[in-house]
Amino acid sequence: MTALISHPARPLAGAAAVPGDKSISHRALILGALAVGETRIAGLLASDDVLATAAAVRALGAQAEQDDNGDWRVYGRGVGGLAEPQGVLDMGNSGTAARLLMGVVATHPFTATLAGDKSLSVRPMERVMTPLSLMGAQFTTRSGGCLPITVTGAPSPVPITYELPVASAQIKSAVLLAGLNTPGRTTVIEPQPTRDHTERMLGHFGAEVVIVEKPGAPGGGGAKEITLTGQPELTGAEVTVPGDISSAAFPLVAALLVPDSKITLTGVGVNPLRMGLIETLKEMGAVLSIDNRRNEGGEPVADLTVVTSGLKGVTVSGRRAPTMIDEYPVLAVAAACAQGVTRLEGLGELRVKESDRLDAIVRGLTAAGIEATATDDVLTVKGGGGPPPGGARIETRLDHRIAMAFLVLGMVAETPIEIDDATTIDTSFPDFAGLMNGLGAAVAARQGG
Ligand code: S3P
Repeated sequence: MTALISHPARPLAGAAAVPGDKSISHRALILGALAVGETRIAGLLASDDVLATAAAVRALGAQAEQDDNGDWRVYGRGVGGLAEPQGVLDMGNSGTAARLLMGVVATHPFTATLAGDKSLSVRPMERVMTPLSLMGAQFTTRSGGCLPITVTGAPSPVPITYELPVASAQIKSAVLLAGLNTPGRTTVIEPQPTRDHTERMLGHFGAEVVIVEKPGAPGGGGAKEITLTGQPELTGAEVTVPGDISSAAFPLVAALLVPDSKITLTGVGVNPLRMGLIETLKEMGAVLSIDNRRNEGGEPVADLTVVTSGLKGVTVSGRRAPTMIDEYPVLAVAAACAQGVTRLEGLGELRVKESDRLDAIVRGLTAAGIEATATDDVLTVKGGGGPPPGGARIETRLDHRIAMAFLVLGMVAETPIEIDDATTIDTSFPDFAGLMNGLGAAVAARQGG
């Protein structure tokens, strides 16, 4: 365990490129492994989570390697062509890797066992096992339906129409990936739209995906019906991975809060289904511009510039939660520095992320002298409109986003914030401290820690 301390920062200034999008990186490796021929991936996030997916697709018989210029090349086995792995697939800390690969294995006629770290081993997996069982897969789990899990794929998979009981791109993606090696049409109905990277990338690799959008409900996007035609021939493709907006969130909020800052983050993915944080920060009063919009490999990309802004508290409905589900820890830090009360609704899913994030946020903020409370699914934070006291040691609970959010709090608080374990940051944002310090932050290893 490496403890880190974040001291009040100098004004943040300059430009930086955040690492590649984690969701898109997992999907590029998985679809590359299911395609025929070469897939070349530029900008892949080489973090612990994504490296777990790379190791898993290799164990399933695909080739996946980084070449000398930093791009990744994947040589796939074709839809339905993966092979039984010899050992256990170690998914580390990654819920996305575990759930998406359970979907892939569910319709291959062999048996595989998936395991993960202490955090992943208590996260709910029934949510993917339920639809995948309907398609014919069989599962043996530890008690409570948790990892390690052994999956025996269906020898004759059946297509299903499945309505998501929770707004989760991971469940949607597991079903669609299982649908690839299933004859006929597999349909997922999502009452609340979630990130659509799987659908976009399936199209990019040559699958037929039809999306029907239902009329929008007041205050939010409408339901979607996504239908995949099974057993397509996927062809290896070129993928450019945009910068991860969920990683950009940390320097972005830091620059909004540290006095006299102005930074630009280049090449950030701005998929509309990931834009909830930007919309919310703008409602809070953030001065933020989105420039140089372009399209890279089927995903919208832009440069984001932010300057220090006085923020005010807001109420955010749960309708927006799927479009910013990973950003609540750092949004709570912004709320702690805003003027007035911020109320964030519909956050039940935060209780089953890498940690119980609602609890981790409330405990951390409280330890740093900030008033914060949570019900089952509503977080309320009272901001004082200036630097909060700080001076706390935060338990990160194997949760990278809790670790980074509280380091951001340390940049703006009156006294430093310490986190007990920084190693988990490598799951999504290797060199977070280096990038932040390059912009003006002061994040350092604790002496003797
Ligand atoms: C992800 C979807 C989200 C998100 C996770 C990545 C994905 O989870 O929290 O970090 O890549 O599909 P849910 O879809 O389960 O909410």
